[in-house]
Formats: sequence, C-alpha cells, structure tokens
Amino acid sequence: MYSLVKPLLFQCDPEHVHELTIKGLAKTQHSPLAALYRRSKIMNPVEVMGLTFDNPVGLAAGLDKNGDCIDAFAAMGFGFIEIGTVTPLAQDGNEKPRLFRIKEADAILNRMGFNNNGIDYLIENVKQSRYQGVLGINIGKNKDTPIEQGKDDYLICMEKSYAHAGYITVNISSPNTPGLRSLQYGDALDDLLAGLKEKQAELAVLHNKQVPLLVKIAPDLSMAEIEQVADSLVRYEIDGVIATNTTLDRDLVFDLPHAHEMGGLSGRPVQNKSTLVISELSRRLDGRLPIIGVGGIDSLTAGREKMAAGASLVQVYSGFIYRGPALIQQLAQHL
Ligand SMILES: Cc1cc2nc3c(=O)[nH]c(=O)nc-3n(C[C@H](O)[C@H](O)[C@H](O)COP(=O)(O)O)c2cc1C
Repeated sequence: MYSLVKPLLFQCDPEHVHELTIKGLAKTQHSPLAALYRRSKIMNPVEVMGLTFDNPVGLAAGLDKNGDCIDAFAAMGFGFIEIGTVTPLAQDGNEKPRLFRIKEADAILNRMGFNNNGIDYLIENVKQSRYQGVLGINIGKNKDTPIEQGKDDYLICMEKSYAHAGYITVNISSPNTPGLRSLQYGDALDDLLAGLKEKQAELAVLHNKQVPLLVKIAPDLSMAEIEQVADSLVRYEIDGVIATNTTLDRDLVFDLPHAHEMGGLSGRPVQNKSTLVISELSRRLDGRLPIIGVGGIDSLTAGREKMAAGASLVQVYSGFIYRGPALIQQLAQHL
C-alpha cells in the first residue's frame, strides 16, 4: 500500500505530510482503522543492556517527537521505539521551511530545532499508550537554556522520564541546536556524563529500577574524537551508545536541490559515514558497551553492514520514509 500512497505524499510539502501523518496515526491507533497499517509482529528477540527487544529494528528519534503515536508505530512491527527529542519546556523549533527531501539521493535534510510540546506532554502520551515493548525516551535541552546550564535540562528530563522509559537517550549530537554538539568533547562531556550517572544512581534507588542511559553521537567526529568519546563513555559506565545522528557533510549531495540548506542530512548520504563511526567505536569499546547503529539503513544489506560493523541493534528514520513499513518487516525478520 505504501508504494501507492508514496508518490502522492511526495508531491506535498514534507512537514505538512509529516504533521498529517502523525495526526492520522494518533487518531486511528486505537481504532479499527489501525488494521490499515497493522502488521504481524516479527519476534526475533535480542537481549541488550538487560532489556529484551522483540526484534533488533527500532524507530529512530525525531519521527514521533511527542510520543503521539507510539501504538501506531508498534503496530507496524518495530522491535523498539524511541520518542523525542523532548526538552523540559515546549518550544517551536526553527522557522519553516525546515524539512527538505533530496529525492535523488534518498535523503532528508532537516533543521527542525527540537520542536516539541515539552516533557510533561510526552509523559502523558506514554501513560496513555498500550505499548509493552522497549520504549526509548530521547532527551535534549531547550534552545534558550545557555549551553553551560544544558546539563540541568537533561537532568530535568531524566527525572521526569525515568519511571516511564525502557531506556533514556542523551542527545548531544543534533546540529540544529546552537552549541549542543560541543557537549561531545572533553571536560563538557565528562561533566555531563558524571552528572547524568549520579542522577541515574539516585533514580534507580527511588524507583527500584535500572534504566539504561545511552548517548547519541554525531557522524562528523574525527577518529581521535571517537576514541575520546568512547573512553569517556566507558569511564562513566554509560550503558550504550547510538551512532549516529545526521551529518553536516554535503559531499555526496553538493550538486542536488536543497543541498545548500542549513541542517542535518540523513538517509543514504550518511550511510557509510555512520558505519565508519560504528566500526571505530566498536574497535575502541571492544564489547564493553553495546552500539545501536543508525544512519542510512534502506535495505537488508545496509542493515547487515551496521551489524557487521559492531551494532547490536539498529534504528531507521529516512529509510522508513523512502521504503515504508515493508523495510521494517524485512529487517526485523532477517537481521
Ligand atoms: C526530520 C528528522 C528529525 C530528526 N529529529 C531527531 C531528534 O529529534 N533527535 C534525534 O536524536 N535524532 C533526530 N533525527 C536523526 C535520526 O534519529 C537519525 O539519527 C538520522 O536521521 C540518521 O538515520 P536515517 O539515515 O535512518 O534517517 C532526525 C532525523 C530527521 C530526518
């Protein structure tokens, strides 16, 4: 069915299609109309970080920023779902237009800027959902919070989401919040990880539950920077790492429409870059932390490359937009 609808959807403004889809899924997910997109769940369980994932294919962050359609995405067969990025307070994000398709490269370019309804709204949605599988909550900082106080925003989101999350992802790799990526380096990273780890220990006692903490990194780190990040993640006993977010690199799309727009590029142009980061991380981590591989997975081969590079689980965003739910089924079954 997706191949019939896609040409129509791709005629329209991408953000408009996105909004309509999210609204439609949210409205139908608990109704008989959900049969239109429900697929039989593929059970191909994987144990990672003490959690059991129904299958190794997750929905990447950013598609369901507010957790409006958790049950709809679960019905499509994802083995786990990551919602967010969510910030303590609601914010509008950047001015529109801020979302572009680069069809010639099966890519998406976005500078959304963490548009979301805030953590309290997201948690209400989580409480309403019937989903029993692993739910990741991806947290960030508000644009208006100075970067030096960014840690406080992560701690607020962590505190509010801890009881409701299967795992929590600390997003320090979006290119669309000024200064955010600086948290990936040196003392800023160490200070953030120390604070998060301390809060995790406190919350684990309070809720009598261990919720894994993951860090999501950019594909634009140098080899030396990847080593430093890996060492910090191990030192602070972070539970996992998600590699990668979108790239600033335009090398593979420079002559295509919209390539000059500011923002992060995803889809096929980030595929190899993200696989390289996973390989290097994996070499340095040597199995001490699991890696969730994301970036340009648009086929079974691409999914297998991520696993071969060292990922234990994968996530998909752009490939899902270009290939639809059938890709998720195929990956879930065969990875
Ligand atoms: C429109 C759009 C919005 C995104 N928003 C977020 C976000 O809020 N938080 C985040 O961690 N990643 C976000 N991402 C990045 C994806 O989760 C993923 O890491 C990246 O797109 C690479 O995967 P892909 O090639 O399968 O899309 C976004 C990606 C896109 C295309």
